Amino acid sequence: MNKKNTNDYPPVNQMNQDQKVEIVMDIFSSITNKYDFLNRFLSLRQDLLWRKKTVEKMQFFKSYKFLDIATGTGDLAINTVNSHPNVKAIGIDFVQNMIDYGNDKIKDQNLKHRLDLKWGDATNIDYEDNTFDVTAMAFGIRNIPDKVKALNEMKRVALPDGQILILELTTPDPGFFKDIYSFYLNGLLPKIAKWFTTNPAAYEYLADSIMNFPTRSEFISLLDSIGLRNIKAIPLSLGICTLYIANK
Ligand SMILES: C[S@@+](CC[C@H](N)C(=O)[O-])C[C@H]1O[C@@H](n2cnc3c(N)ncnc32)[C@H](O)[C@@H]1O
Repeated sequence: MNKKNTNDYPPVNQMNQDQKVEIVMDIFSSITNKYDFLNRFLSLRQDLLWRKKTVEKMQFFKSYKFLDIATGTGDLAINTVNSHPNVKAIGIDFVQNMIDYGNDKIKDQNLKHRLDLKWGDATNIDYEDNTFDVTAMAFGIRNIPDKVKALNEMKRVALPDGQILILELTTPDPGFFKDIYSFYLNGLLPKIAKWFTTNPAAYEYLADSIMNFPTRSEFISLLDSIGLRNIKAIPLSLGICTLYIANK
């Protein structure tokens, strides 16, 4: 499938699960070398603060191992090993271009002995039960059709009492700011992205996928339904992002 330079991803709520997976793979393979830049630029560098907050909340207590799921170019895993000197980390992603790009960054920062990015599917994680003190996913769950399967996998590979952290873009509560944000997401952002990427449709998909993501309370119910404990949701930057924290 090659949709580069096209504008024809169907709306998120009309995609079937297989189509969504194929489109997500296509998007991240086609925007890899602009991904980090566009993250910083389009979020006005807020993404750096959101990952920093996530890393600050991590609690390592037994294996000192961290699994970053849907790691992309590895930013969350890189921040984690830089902030927690005793921790070793693995990042998994199902788009090889993103992994290769991330592994180059890791080599440049001399972190290879503590962090490696590998191919892996969030819905079928290739690690044993009860392995990691902390598992996390930043901006990944929105792109995964079978969220329950992916969350159960995060839970399975976490140690008992281990942490499951999810960082995800959310829509702010109804009001003036939500209207401005919707205009930015749906009107402005895809136009800005057009200047920088050969696949601007990827940023229409981004807006659409955020608007179609469960609300904060719906997502908390989902975490509760898979048996996680101590669930907290921390709104960030006026609610355009939320950090969910829970324990196994
Ligand atoms: C928006 S990026 C987030 C990357 C990174 N976590 C960050 O903080 O910038 C989403 C990533 O999720 C990956 N992804 C989506 N579904 C996946 C799945 N089922 N298994 C593994 N990776 C997946 C994509 O390939 C992409 O690299």
